[in-house]
Amino acid sequence: MAALQTCLNIDELRLRARRFLPRGLFEYIDRGTEDETALRRLRDSFEQAELTPRVLVDCSERHAGVTLFGRDRPLPFVIAPTAAAGLVRYDGEVLLARAARAAGIPFCVSTQSITSIEAIAEAGAELWFQLYVWRDRSLTHALLDRVAACGVDTLILTVDTAVSPKREYNRHNGFNVPVTPSLRGALDVARHPAWLGGVLLRLLAEGGWPGYAHYPPQFRTRITDAASHDPIRLCDGVSWDDVAELRRRWQGRLILKGVLAPEDALRAGGTGVEAIVVSNHGGRNLDSAPAPLAVLPRIVDAVGGRMTVLADSGVRRGSDAAKLLAAGAAAVLLGRAPLFGLAAGGQAGAEHALAILWDELERTMALLGCRTVADLRSISFPGIDAQSS
Ligand SMILES: Cc1cc2nc3c(=O)[nH]c(=O)nc-3n(C[C@H](O)[C@H](O)[C@H](O)COP(=O)(O)O)c2cc1C
Repeated sequence: MAALQTCLNIDELRLRARRFLPRGLFEYIDRGTEDETALRRLRDSFEQAELTPRVLVDCSERHAGVTLFGRDRPLPFVIAPTAAAGLVRYDGEVLLARAARAAGIPFCVSTQSITSIEAIAEAGAELWFQLYVWRDRSLTHALLDRVAACGVDTLILTVDTAVSPKREYNRHNGFNVPVTPSLRGALDVARHPAWLGGVLLRLLAEGGWPGYAHYPPQFRTRITDAASHDPIRLCDGVSWDDVAELRRRWQGRLILKGVLAPEDALRAGGTGVEAIVVSNHGGRNLDSAPAPLAVLPRIVDAVGGRMTVLADSGVRRGSDAAKLLAAGAAAVLLGRAPLFGLAAGGQAGAEHALAILWDELERTMALLGCRTVADLRSISFPGIDAQSS
């Protein structure tokens, strides 16, 4: 824990995560897609957006809390869905859920998590569930019944992954699906004994190579197996009809994640979904995709308050989150930041990542003369206006 406290920002947690994790797993988390243009664009978007300080505003009573979907939350963050977080640390998804609970924010469980929603629910956190639609829609609907039975009331449908993106480093590292055992991979793992002993050997001792816990038992493969079962392949035919069907079936809140075009945001508004996440998937999918910060104001304008607009991708500083909030996001999802924390120090590390961003956000707010997130939304924001014009 003492060592964790020496990490003063998310980049320092990232370096610690890089030391702990085998390279294949670290790069799977850290990197983007193809030429990693979208990833660079994310950093550029935040760095180029200036915030002008406002002076002599009494900010002694400031707080970054928000009311999101009718519930007060101490900070405007949600832990984003990330596949295979259970490989980062033993029981990683449960640890993330506990960190979210400690911070008073929701944790969104991925369809592709290593631990089942039923087991994660025992952590007592507010859970959301992220859905990838499988080719066999009836299996997808059965999964939703499982999710609803766990008391989950918020479903995020990820709509930006019509096909698997081309992430060449995963192929080089043997970290594609299936994970391809190789001498290079074995040496990589051997060079990271803390991960080998603390995660992989524990998982192997427990039941062999882990798999994706939400796949139906008859199709549940290990991560080292090809996903050869057609019914549970990622469906490349997901359309607005699926959104309408999900809207009919899912009693809770429905959110579309991965919207970047104002036209799509408008169309989403007509389907009865409660919210969208403006996201480029952390720069991991379409490599030419814009940064959310660049399109957010237009989307917020287009939606005109008829739907909640959330955002994510590339947040490494509290000031990045401040910019997304100032540009109109109701809350910000965090993907890699809590994962780096998780790798660096388990649940305490994930909590530390949230605490760092929370502290940085509140400092940014004070330096801007903002006492609340609502104040943040009213600041003039030339960087944003320039990007979105
Ligand atoms: C390792 C990893 C796995 C991810 N898995 C999923 C997933 O299963 N479903 C999904 O909708 N998004 C997934 N994402 C995207 C995140 O939900 C989120 O949009 C993105 O990480 C935000 O960018 P950030 O990591 O820079 O915060 C994943 C991201 C990472 C880094």
